[in-house]
Amino acid sequence: MSTQTEWETYREEAEHALAAAGLDEIAEERVRYLGRKSPLALALREVRDRETGMLLNGIRTRLEEAADERERSLAGDELDRRLREEVIDVTLPGEELPLGHLHPITQVRRAVEDAFLGLGYEVRDDREVETVEYNFDKLAFLPTHSARSPRDTFFFDETHVLRTETSPSQIHILEEKPPPIYMVSIGRVYRRDAITATRYPIFHQFEGLAVDKGITLADLKGTLLHVMRALYGPERRVRFRTHYFPFTEPSIEPDVSCGICGGEGCRTCKWSGWIEMGGAGMVDPQVLENVGLDPNEWGGFAFGCGLERTAQLRHFIPDIRALWEGDLRVLRQF
Ligand code: DAH
Repeated sequence: MSTQTEWETYREEAEHALAAAGLDEIAEERVRYLGRKSPLALALREVRDRETGMLLNGIRTRLEEAADERERSLAGDELDRRLREEVIDVTLPGEELPLGHLHPITQVRRAVEDAFLGLGYEVRDDREVETVEYNFDKLAFLPTHSARSPRDTFFFDETHVLRTETSPSQIHILEEKPPPIYMVSIGRVYRRDAITATRYPIFHQFEGLAVDKGITLADLKGTLLHVMRALYGPERRVRFRTHYFPFTEPSIEPDVSCGICGGEGCRTCKWSGWIEMGGAGMVDPQVLENVGLDPNEWGGFAFGCGLERTAQLRHFIPDIRALWEGDLRVLRQF
């Protein structure tokens, strides 16, 4: 290729090819007509005279512009196409992600924590594998108490059990620091019960303990009233029935007025108007002595209640097993 006409033909052909190239071809066409091994580039390398140089450089500039122009217009077309086809309406609501919620036991646990934190109590979480000493001995259980039997309690060996109640927390905190003490301990406890609608071998308790000077049964009653109202609503009333526990004297069982019938009597409260809430009492002097405190100087009250029971009463869940089976169709309702 040497004549000017031949180069003009080269230019025209190239301009056509570039103008007709699609998105997939434009790079290829650019290489073919302008690349290092294109006739134009090879000829430019051989240029000896000024005239040819000007001719070829002029063609190169035009072709580069033509290629750039084509690329720009292809990119514009592509953008138009995507704007047309990939329509996203950013004002539409997004896809909703399934969000879970806290298990009813956790909800109750937090409600209990809130109620006691509001009274200035500290919240504790103690070990579930307990020694016989802390689970029974220091809580003044008699050697003959039936809970000490492997029929009732899970034993690891002669001295270790799965705690049967949260009451050992009383001993732990009393040994850890001097009174005044206001604490609530929450966690799992274990008993060798068959699974039924009302019993489960694992469950949760919250255990309260107040040890200070001049504490009376009235303080216990006021505290339980506050907590029961926090958990079940401001209309609730509390009453005490006498009972026996090894580590309290006197011992009582607190009842809360039935929220379904308002105390009139119904199936849930077995027509008594009252629902049993757990155990409580004034800390037995023996327990205080067991942790090195003088019962003439210090006194206190304690109480323990089940969290499952609390959740059941709050949500009217008739079967305790629902709280352990993890069936979302049930749990989603609470
Ligand atoms: N630990 C008892 C139980 O599991 C409940 C209880 C009764 C706890 C009286 C107490 C209490 O703190 O004073 O049956």
